[in-house]
Amino acid sequence: MILFKKITDLRNWLERQRKNGKSIGFVPTMGALYQGHLSLIETSKQKAAVTVCSIFVNPTQFNDPADFSKYPVTIEKDIELLAAAGTTALFLPDVPEIYPNGRPESKKYELGYLETVLDGSSRPGHFQGVCTVVERLLEIVAPDHLMLGQKDYQQCLVITRLLALMGNAGNGIQIHICPTLREENGLAMSSRNMRLNEADREKAALIHQSLLQIREELQPGELAPLKHKISGLLSSDGFQPDYVELANAKTLALVEVWDGKEELVALIAAFLSGVRLIDNMLVHKATE
Ligand code: PAF
Repeated sequence: MILFKKITDLRNWLERQRKNGKSIGFVPTMGALYQGHLSLIETSKQKAAVTVCSIFVNPTQFNDPADFSKYPVTIEKDIELLAAAGTTALFLPDVPEIYPNGRPESKKYELGYLETVLDGSSRPGHFQGVCTVVERLLEIVAPDHLMLGQKDYQQCLVITRLLALMGNAGNGIQIHICPTLREENGLAMSSRNMRLNEADREKAALIHQSLLQIREELQPGELAPLKHKISGLLSSDGFQPDYVELANAKTLALVEVWDGKEELVALIAAFLSGVRLIDNMLVHKATE
């Protein structure tokens, strides 16, 4: 695996790959890698001739500075994992390399409704920050294939929108949304799990169980009673739920009354011992 810290070096190398007819797969990350990221690398290896992974803890997407400063950094282990997984190149820039003129404030991405719900409203500015860095990274890497994890469901929709906003630069990039990997107890794998103690890791599986319960108990009609019940159960088990929602799986429009046909995704965000955990599940697939 080749390690690049400078944009120019990475671009020159990518240029040579393209001249040799090689397609580029890209896995953007913030490091603290785990099996879920490695499954994205695996997908990239199947889709593209070369796989570039980036590790950059992006300051512009943290609306809470404390969350940024607590974000786990495990670079040496990450490098080992990526090399063992067969990653072709790692891009490891520092903040001035990505933002040479300081934090870019001026650009506003038109994310519309997507920015007003769920993590969009709970984490103001978060998705603007994600778009800022992802657009920058995509301009640098110009991949053919972009791998994203379903665990960040709303982020997948936001980045799909970003590609549309990027016009020609985004058109040629194919997104692949890879399934969420889970611990044995069902807990969605996440870099944030590193901040949970053993007892909380066990308890955190309740989020996945709640999603299964929603899928099980989902009935056409008013959805508020089911959402309140699940939220109440999480609270009584020591979580601070941020949201328990059901939404249209394509648009993320929140659904209050379900017709029994619309494709639905259930999404939960909840704090446990100060760590914000998110998970989601497609609970109903549309029937034609
Ligand atoms: O999902 C993440 O790790 C980040 O939001 C991303 C896409 C790498 C942008 O910083």
